[in-house]
Amino acid sequence: MRVLAAVLLAIFFHSASAQPAAFARCAACHDSKGAGADLGPSLSGVVGRKAGSREDFRYSRPMARSGIVWSEQNLDAFLKAPDQFVPGTRMPFEGLPSDAERAAVIRHLKSLK
Ligand code: HEC
Repeated sequence: MRVLAAVLLAIFFHSASAQPAAFARCAACHDSKGAGADLGPSLSGVVGRKAGSREDFRYSRPMARSGIVWSEQNLDAFLKAPDQFVPGTRMPFEGLPSDAERAAVIRHLKSLK
């Protein structure tokens, strides 16, 4: 019983913290733990947050004024084609064309508290 619990816990924590390969590209610019931002705003707690709302990052005007809330659907559209979903965004990223990769990245974003 104890062994089973340990195995289940290990699987749970592994799947909660495992970072999909595609996220390595995001991590080049984005912190995920809420630390001060460098190249991009921290993605800690981004799911459900209003776009452009971190105090410690200077967003582009289009992002700050977009009125978007980062639901899973909006993240999916943004990550597929950032500059089409938020025209004029300063995020220098061409987008993730793969549905599976976007789904994995969004699943990971949901785990970032
Ligand atoms: C080369 C740097 C760079 C890369 C790579 C990058 N981003 Fe960004 N990201 C930015 C910048 C800069 C902004 C702010 C854009 C603005 O203000 O218009 C941003 C904004 C965002 C936002 C909006 C955050 C908020 O607080 O409103 C999300 C969500 C996001 N990025 C997710 C991602 C994900 C997921 C990836 C990987 C698939 C990624 N980014 C790759 C630089 C980057």
